[in-house]
Order: sequence, then structure tokens, then C-alpha cells
Amino acid sequence: MKFFIDTANLDQIKEAQALGVLDGVTTNPSLMAKEGIKGEENILKHYADICNIVDGDVSAEVISTDFAGMVKEGEALAALHPQIVIKLPMIADGVKACKYFSDKGIKTNVTLVFSAGQALLAAKAGATYMSPFIGRLDDISSDGLHLISEIRHIYNNYGFETEILAASVRHTMHIIDCAKIGADVMTGPLSAIKGLLKHPLTESGLAQFLADYNKGN
Ligand code: E4P
Repeated sequence: MKFFIDTANLDQIKEAQALGVLDGVTTNPSLMAKEGIKGEENILKHYADICNIVDGDVSAEVISTDFAGMVKEGEALAALHPQIVIKLPMIADGVKACKYFSDKGIKTNVTLVFSAGQALLAAKAGATYMSPFIGRLDDISSDGLHLISEIRHIYNNYGFETEILAASVRHTMHIIDCAKIGADVMTGPLSAIKGLLKHPLTESGLAQFLADYNKGN
């Protein structure tokens, strides 16, 4: 299972990278705005900065909603750095742009996926990654994890190579449940990744080991 961090915050990306378990980064326009990154030039520079911190794929989202605009933006993003993955919205023009980029061998991430039918379309268009937003489904009393199971089943039926990127992960249990179902990737906040570390028996066990060592030295 690949671990992506879902942020545009460079310090958090550095911390996750230093932990040694980071496979990539996802961003979106809201996450960039949260870090105060505005204007095309600054946004492109920020993506390049992220690519220079991590070894893996970095999803950069287009803001155009028409095919021509997505292609223009996506080509500029792809030219920026070999680690950039073009993030495209799950709308008709996004599906067309996904097919366009996948035919050219450029990696894509189809985002804002909320149904199995949308996931099927993304795979048919050759998406590298397809991002179902599980937390946002849970927020409206729909079962985000059930959607991941449905998509896993469908993709396995046909051997689709598109990777299921469980997105909108909010907490540690989301990561564990996605791993049980067989999501290929998860993207979430640093807090959810670090949450995997925690167990009271690890903490008390280590404290005891150190106390016993110190008694004998
Ligand atoms: C995915 O790529 C999105 O950036 C993200 O996971 C959305 O998460 P949110 O629902 O917490 O905003």
C-alpha cells in the first residue's frame, strides 16, 4: 500500500518524508490556498519545491473545467517535473483529458470520485490513479469504505491497472480499513499517518525496558 500525504505544507511533507514511509503527495486548490500559495508562478514553484522534497508522485490539480484548458494546464504542469501527476476532475471533459494524457504516457489522477460508475469511467480512460473521497461520503452518512470495496471488486473483475487512491482519509482507522479492503494507495493528513505509531503497550513497554536498563547501569 502506498502512503501519500494530502497537504501542500512543506514542513509536514518534510516530516513525513523523514519518517521513511512516504510514497507521494496529493494537493488540491484548497490545500494550496490554505498555505497562502497564490498566482500561477508561485503555484508552479511550490509544486517544484514539493517534488524536490519527495521521491514519488506529486498530484497537481488543474483548475480548468474544459478539455482545451485542462490539456494546456496539464501539459505545463507535466513539463514542470517528471514526478508531477495531472489531477483532473471527474467530469466529462476531465475523462476526455484523462484519455488524452494516458495515451501520451503522462500520469493522471482522476479526482472527486463518489461512485463506482465514476470509478469505472476513470479506469476506462486509463487513469493512473482514481481518487474516491471516503471522508466526504462519511460526512453525508454514506459509507465511504463500502465504495472502496465496490471499486476493488470491479477493478479485480477486469484487471484494471488504475490504482485506487483512497482520498479524503480523515483518521488512522480509515487507513487500516482501506488496507484491509486492498486500496492501492491512501492519501491523508500527517496526523493520520502518525496515528498508526501509537499503542499504549509500546509506550509502557519501552519505558519499562529503559527503566530496567538504567537499574543495571
Ligand atoms: C484528494 O486528493 C483530496 O486532496 C483530499 O483527500 C480531500 O480531502 P478532504 O475531504 O479532507 O478535503
